[in-house]
Amino acid sequence: MLLNFFSMKTTLSSRGFTAINAMLRPDFEIFFEAIQNLYDKEENPNGTFPLNVAENKLMWAVMKEKIESITKNKEIPDWVSNYTSALGSPSFRVVLAHFMTKHLTKCPMDPHKMGVSAGATAVIEMTSLLLGEKGDVVVFPAPCYPVYRQDIGNKSELERYDLVTHHNLETIVDEPNLSIEDLDQTLKKLQSQNKRFRMLVLTNPDNPTGGLYSIQKIEKIANWCILHGIHLIVNEIYGLSIIDTKHSEIAADYKTDRPFISFATVMHEKQSDFLHLWYSLSKDFGVSGFRIGLVYSHNEDFIKAYNNYNAPNMASNYAQWIMEEVLKDDTFVKSYIKENQKLLTESYILVVKSLKKLDIPYVPSRGSLFVWADFSKYLVENTQAAENAFWMKIYKNTGILLTPGEGFGHTKFGQFRVVYPSVCIDDLAVALGRLEVELLNECI
Ligand SMILES: Cc1ncc(COP(=O)(O)O)c(C=O)c1O
Repeated sequence: MLLNFFSMKTTLSSRGFTAINAMLRPDFEIFFEAIQNLYDKEENPNGTFPLNVAENKLMWAVMKEKIESITKNKEIPDWVSNYTSALGSPSFRVVLAHFMTKHLTKCPMDPHKMGVSAGATAVIEMTSLLLGEKGDVVVFPAPCYPVYRQDIGNKSELERYDLVTHHNLETIVDEPNLSIEDLDQTLKKLQSQNKRFRMLVLTNPDNPTGGLYSIQKIEKIANWCILHGIHLIVNEIYGLSIIDTKHSEIAADYKTDRPFISFATVMHEKQSDFLHLWYSLSKDFGVSGFRIGLVYSHNEDFIKAYNNYNAPNMASNYAQWIMEEVLKDDTFVKSYIKENQKLLTESYILVVKSLKKLDIPYVPSRGSLFVWADFSKYLVENTQAAENAFWMKIYKNTGILLTPGEGFGHTKFGQFRVVYPSVCIDDLAVALGRLEVELLNECI
């Protein structure tokens, strides 16, 4: 690329030159086209169903009403128009710590151990910048959220390593397959290539599988990381988007009962400089446009460094104030979480019922906004091109835009992610009806 750069006439830096063609996601262009033509029962019955971007629209009406009551009834505090601490507004961090303790982590959280940035994206980028050297490796159990690659790579120049733990998703039973043996082997492999295994990132609940690691497994992994001087970061961005696995329509899919237990409890016990937590309001509260994410760490140097480097990534004070007012209302937050989980479960059930009818394998989800499903039986051949062609065919024939499997780092073609709460349940039912007709025809 650098050779290319020197032979080109460009006004940009080498980084800028690389960025010209470095698409964030292969499905973004078509997503922005699809949202111009959304399905509407009355107005646009032939419209589209973008089920590819991780957004939860199910509770927006409730959140909107709450935000409107704040902006109508409360005086905007003067600090909103000023610069504030680069770690995030102090009053917001106090409320965040209270909210997390009460609703997410259920263990004491200290506002001084927190850094707030413009969404988890910025938090991931900052964390990579402060913990890794150029060329260091960040390991992700695959399949995994594709954009981690850019978040850790674009500026910090860290490398993504997809640790493949399975080929067929049916082998994921009960929790993600990652084992200590997998980690030992990966460490050896990277060492033999003279690469440094610097960070391990777990997403819990997982994107895209919706799997939930048991806290015992996470603790074992944390011990392994501390022993080897590897940073372990758990991304709990979907920590409150939990499925009711005891619901009678899906209970048979789960062998064990597993509540979400936050990694913060392990961090609190171990007080290690190698353990960190990411969170964001984008998903659990359906406000990805507000751009509020955070990192939590007991590593004092890390938080000091974060404070000194976070200025370009700070979240807007106005957004922080609004969410401070929302999150300090415990009664609202409690009922929001409960209702959100109920709606998520209802939409989730609809998707898995359709998949069962079509005999499409999927990973039973315990949380997140996704169903990860294996459509490989519909591919005309076992190639990336065939996977892409199937993805486009579904979009053209039904208006449904799935998240393409490319970039998740798995080994089997034909796997797609369904983001079921990105449309209301009535529209989801129409979309799934179309998918069933399309794919049942396919089998004739
Ligand atoms: C696992 C994971 N991390 C981070 C993000 C980015 O979140 P944010 O909108 O807060 O930057 C996403 C968004 O899809 C995600 O799924």
